[in-house]
Amino acid sequence: MQIPIGLLGCGTVGAGVVSLVRRRADRVADMTGLRPVIRRILVRDLHKDRGVHFEDEQLTTSAEDILGDPEIQIVVETIGGIEPARTYILEALARKKHVVTANKDLIALHGPEILQTAAANGVSILFEASVGGAIPLLGPLQENLTANEVTDLKGIINGTTNFILSKMAEEGLDFDEALALAQELGYAEADPSSDVDGLDAARKLVILASIAFHTEVHLADVRVEGIRHVTASDVRYADEAGYVIKLLADGRDRNGRLSLSVRPTLIPKSHPLAHVSDAFNALFVRGDAAGDLMFFGRGAGRMPTASAVVGDIIALVRNLKLGVITSWPYALAGSRKPVVDFE
Ligand code: NDP
Ligand code: HSE
Repeated sequence: MQIPIGLLGCGTVGAGVVSLVRRRADRVADMTGLRPVIRRILVRDLHKDRGVHFEDEQLTTSAEDILGDPEIQIVVETIGGIEPARTYILEALARKKHVVTANKDLIALHGPEILQTAAANGVSILFEASVGGAIPLLGPLQENLTANEVTDLKGIINGTTNFILSKMAEEGLDFDEALALAQELGYAEADPSSDVDGLDAARKLVILASIAFHTEVHLADVRVEGIRHVTASDVRYADEAGYVIKLLADGRDRNGRLSLSVRPTLIPKSHPLAHVSDAFNALFVRGDAAGDLMFFGRGAGRMPTASAVVGDIIALVRNLKLGVITSWPYALAGSRKPVVDFE
């Protein structure tokens, strides 16, 4: 039996999702008896070359072709930004469709509303791709590490800025050249200022901290500074002194008091985070039972991000087979730990 999927957006990530769903459909069908098939794809421009082959009837410019199709059980959102993504997701949930999204802007700003809408309609929403690209982070924090009190989250969670800083340090590129290359490779957001000014990493930290510290976290709780003012000579001086400059996201929970920041930080070359280059991401997590853990992998790009999105799609297909609904209880709405600055 087929599980028809509607895809909203088909850019860097969406096109990867199309090809990876095709690649894994047989295996999922063997495992579950259910075959995921992308039935319709919402785009703005029907004639753009997307690097994948489509049947003519698959592409549409009308969201209603997906949201109004009663056979579509799973909607995957890879448009990005707040609107119209928020309206489409809320509408899909209200029509009792399960949702997968890669959209950290939306989850960081409207996560509780979206999770509550999913719960009220008895459907799931999964968003593993929203933080860390291919690296499984939200699943482990929400499931495997749930026996822990997590006290520390520290890492590199924006691929574009890490790519820029690495290229400046390793190849002597200037900031604008490195940013242009990151855009060409599909790492940057549609508006790359959210990468460069630290907002993308701050939004990801909001999602991570909400889940890890079991509380509602707002973007305004995070002290944010980007890398726009980091010059080639800053990078060179840091190198000569035995350091690299990284955009570091830092979240701490000290006995129920939180400190959250994203800022360029000098990291000694002997530290493992100093060796995270290119668009790779890494997250260090400290739990009271697990001790220290380090997650590492590709934090951006077409297929790494598709890996996380399609992982969520397959989890939903498996749940459909089992008749199970899973949505992670993202943040405890109304529970607010105080935010302080420990420095
Ligand atoms: P792109 O800009 O490459 O793709 C966006 C797609 O959405 C395009 O196909 C575009 O259509 C479509 N779209 C945009 N606006 C509308 C609209 N109003 N109505 C219908 N379709 C629309 O973005 P990415 O693939 O890079 O990113 C998608 C999401 O994934 C974002 O939330 C991003 O933050 C997240 N993400 C991205 C990663 C990456 O490495 N790129 C990594 C992890 C998450 P058209 O092509 O016709 O213009
Ligand atoms: N623009 C984001 C980054 C994409 O560079 O990390 C992955 O979330």
